[in-house]
Amino acid sequence: MTPNISASTASNKAEFYQDLELQIQGVTDGQRNWVTNLANSSALIYHGLRDVTEKPINWVGFYVLDQSLPPSSTKEALILGPFQGKVACTNIDFGRGVCGTAAAEARTMLVKDVHDFPGHIACDAASNSEIVVPLVLDGRVIGVLDLDCEVTEGFDEVDQAGLEVVAKYLVQACDWRGVI
Ligand code: SME
Repeated sequence: MTPNISASTASNKAEFYQDLELQIQGVTDGQRNWVTNLANSSALIYHGLRDVTEKPINWVGFYVLDQSLPPSSTKEALILGPFQGKVACTNIDFGRGVCGTAAAEARTMLVKDVHDFPGHIACDAASNSEIVVPLVLDGRVIGVLDLDCEVTEGFDEVDQAGLEVVAKYLVQACDWRGVI
């Protein structure tokens, strides 16, 4: 199905996140494939947020549960999913970096300066702030939504609230075959 989505005309971030909900509902209408829906959601967030904030947001994407670990493995890990931005690290163990910490603790990490976060994984040395929101299905973390910005304090509580709504919506809007 081809979505009929117009670019966000929001003039501020709160408005942008209200529009974003509708845009993501639009692109996921009649489509439940997780790769497809996370790919389009990354594009909507990356381009829309860069336009409205004029901040150098340099990466927006998803990591999902890695199911390629042997069944005997007791560790959980994330693997790179759909994204917008430069090439990124492919595998992140739960508990490692900002993404792995958000996954292990099942809570959003709003990191105003990545240099203050012990264990931050610098996929791109240009990144200075980051926000990671877990995707939680029936109490289980199945992935994370990750955004990076080249300046410190690139993200705030408005982003956190807006992105948590997006994460919650996407968990329900997709079939997670291959991830869970
Ligand atoms: N900085 C992340 C790694 C992923 S990239 O930013 C795309 C982390 O510390 O988990």
